[in-house]
Amino acid sequence: MLRKELDRERAAGRTVGLVPTMGALHPGHAALIARAAAECDVTAVTIFVNPLQFAAGEDLSRYPRNLDADLELATAAGAALVFAPPVEEMFPGGRSATVVHVAGLSDGLEGASRPSHFDGVATVVARLFNLAGPARAYFGEKDFQQLAVVRRMASDLGIPVTVVGCRTVRDHDGVAWSSRNGYLSADERAAAPVLVRALEAGAEAVAGPGRERAAGEVRRLMARIVAAEPLALLDYAELVDAETLTPLDVIAPGAEIRLLLAAWVGGTRLIDNVGVTAP
Ligand code: PAF
Repeated sequence: MLRKELDRERAAGRTVGLVPTMGALHPGHAALIARAAAECDVTAVTIFVNPLQFAAGEDLSRYPRNLDADLELATAAGAALVFAPPVEEMFPGGRSATVVHVAGLSDGLEGASRPSHFDGVATVVARLFNLAGPARAYFGEKDFQQLAVVRRMASDLGIPVTVVGCRTVRDHDGVAWSSRNGYLSADERAAAPVLVRALEAGAEAVAGPGRERAAGEVRRLMARIVAAEPLALLDYAELVDAETLTPLDVIAPGAEIRLLLAAWVGGTRLIDNVGVTAP
């Protein structure tokens, strides 16, 4: 049982790092685990493909599962413990009757396209945090909205877990590592860098000298770049306040801004984001 083992570590004076995942571990996860292992005495990785965060018709049944490879990667990256509970252990009776909803932060962006997604994430992460006990928990900025939702949930509920956000890890061509990249055909994978290209162009438009500073222009610029890639179909291109995730109309000097994109590449929905400080 996770709590007992981690309580034993804490009782011996050791600090605990926690890396919640859905498995299908890749270099982005390895970086989270390595950072946790560098900053904490004992690092636990959780692997649970959480049914609550998939809507009907999404990819729950085909989500990649490979526990042996995951155990190997997690251990090599520095995990002392891997917790991969069956659904019955996470949700006795099949589902959770309690739903954790983080109002506001859950509603726009990903929440607009996937209405129950963040309730599923917040509910399962609250349970994982309670199963683990006091810890530092590491999440990737690749899922920027998830990071904001989880941080707010832990703070609002007074859960003694410090949420640590970690930089997105990218492949050689700039594509953010994601377990869903494995769904892409060779042609689709070759088209996938269009997301980061559009984001970087948007960031340059925000930060560059003498460039267009109206938020609407930056959104349209990103959308045009995605539209020029025949295999990609834009879901949203947004420019938000990095703290509140509120969409911006104007770019105020010194504002901390996050540019976020979601696009279908073939049958796969990819998301990515970058941060920029307005000059
Ligand atoms: O980012 C993920 O893999 C999942 O959303 C998480 C945080 C493990 C919750 O199921």
